[in-house]
Amino acid sequence: MAPWLQLLLLLGLLPAAAPASSKPPAAGAQAWELASPELREPARFALEMYNRGRAAGTRAALGAVRGRVRRAGRGSLYSLKATLVEPPCNDPTVCQLPVSKKTLLCSFEVLDELGKHMLLRRDCGPVDTKTTDDKNETFSSFLPLLNKDPLPQDFSVKMASIFKDFVTTYNRTYDSQEEASWRMSVFANNMVRAQKIQALDRGTAQYGVTKFSDLTEEEFRTIYLNPLLKDAPGRNMRLAQPVTDVPPPQWDWRNKGAVTDVKDQGMCGSCWAFSVTGNVEGQWFLKRGTLLSLSEQELLDCDKTDKACLGGLPSNAYSAIRTLGGLETEDDYSYRGHLQTCSFSAEDAKVYINDSVELSKNEQKLAAWLAKKGPISVAINAFGMQFYRHGISHPLRPLCSPWLIDHAVLLVGYGNRSATPFWAIKNSWGTNWGEEGYYYLHRGSGACGVNIMASSAVIN
Ligand SMILES: *[C@@H]1O[C@H](CO)[C@@H](O)[C@H](O)[C@H]1NC(C)=O
Ligand SMILES: *[C@@H]1O[C@H](CO)[C@@H](O)[C@H](O)[C@H]1NC(C)=O
Ligand SMILES: *[C@@H]1O[C@H](CO)[C@@H](O)[C@H](O)[C@H]1NC(C)=O
Ligand SMILES: *[C@@H]1O[C@H](CO)[C@@H](O)[C@H](O)[C@H]1NC(C)=O
Repeated sequence: MAPWLQLLLLLGLLPAAAPASSKPPAAGAQAWELASPELREPARFALEMYNRGRAAGTRAALGAVRGRVRRAGRGSLYSLKATLVEPPCNDPTVCQLPVSKKTLLCSFEVLDELGKHMLLRRDCGPVDTKTTDDKNETFSSFLPLLNKDPLPQDFSVKMASIFKDFVTTYNRTYDSQEEASWRMSVFANNMVRAQKIQALDRGTAQYGVTKFSDLTEEEFRTIYLNPLLKDAPGRNMRLAQPVTDVPPPQWDWRNKGAVTDVKDQGMCGSCWAFSVTGNVEGQWFLKRGTLLSLSEQELLDCDKTDKACLGGLPSNAYSAIRTLGGLETEDDYSYRGHLQTCSFSAEDAKVYINDSVELSKNEQKLAAWLAKKGPISVAINAFGMQFYRHGISHPLRPLCSPWLIDHAVLLVGYGNRSATPFWAIKNSWGTNWGEEGYYYLHRGSGACGVNIMASSAVIN
């Protein structure tokens, strides 16, 4: 059977995805509390999916399991609650949980059709923060289909066709049909997440299909974001001399030749390096008149304070550039997206910096500084960016807390679109994300912590 047909079938069964999720359970639907032997197989399968891609010794183990099952035709749908025990984790940058916690409570939905298992839902959180009482939507969302209500059919067709477009657009290949099915269910859940983010956005942003649409939130966070930024230790940079001029109503360094093309960090949490090279590129241009594309790989390999693809801090990177004796160009020391042995040579450095400074947390002052002095390295909470397509993003503050900073980027300009003030932000996820690689974020409300960690190199 063509994967699309298979997937289409599956999709009708997706949880949360079904618009009918708020429907009450149909009368006569039966559910049982099960004795554990019957849950062993589906629970083991869910665990296996949970542990996918993890090295031996880092896999979670199954604790207590309870659950229910619904049967329809040849299928059984298991709804499980399981505790998972994570092994001790010594590297806080890769731990799934805060180091002191080790038990997760997970909700799984496993479909068993003639012995073939499929994980349809997975939702895990630390035991102490996760409420144990369930939202009822889980079961009820399946019921229309399992009870042969006609409802979700057109939804599945639509979703299958959107997923197919996605696979074509982003040239995705999956290793197996199982993988494709799993990715499709992740995709469908993500469409629903994107809709929720959309509904709660107060700006003009559009959220939907992006090249990251087949990744779970957890995968996305682990691969692309930067956990070190979250609890940046007391940064030791001096405060910049404030720029006291009134900022011009708008500014864009891209029109002035101070910004290189959008780069792509690949599957590596190296945003911090791109944010810093972007800033130094601008500083060098403004001080020396030449725009050079500078090497992030040098920072991945040679800045030993930071952690290459596992994250880093701009403040450390500036120090490393000074200690090393400068930056080579992108051409001379090109990007590989993984840690290598340092092969920096001081003779090849084309650019140096003399110092680095922390900038004001006042967005008006940041704008004044930017217009006068150049693009600024900032760090933000990346909430919603997995699904951002275009427009000015303005998530509700509680959803995009300034205290959960996890992505470093570059402010290159600002202005208003209609009446909405924005920052123009150079990202490092390639030009096939956002607006040609750029992100637009609301300006003036401390949106997503954009004002919290602004910094720049200084070239004398
Ligand atoms: C779940 O559904 C039952 C019966 O409809 C209801 O009494 C209960 O309050 C619901 N629980 C939640 C968390 O919504
Ligand atoms: C699509 O992916 C395949 C295999 O990963 C690759 O060989 C091919 O060049 C890609 N095509 C495009 C247009 O990116
Ligand atoms: C800035 O740093 C460069 C390279 O280390 C050095 O040659 C230069 O003298 C420094 N400039 C000042 C004013 O300190
Ligand atoms: C931009 O929009 C804000 C909010 O609507 C407004 O206060 C400000 O005056 C506008 N700036 C310009 C230059 O239009």
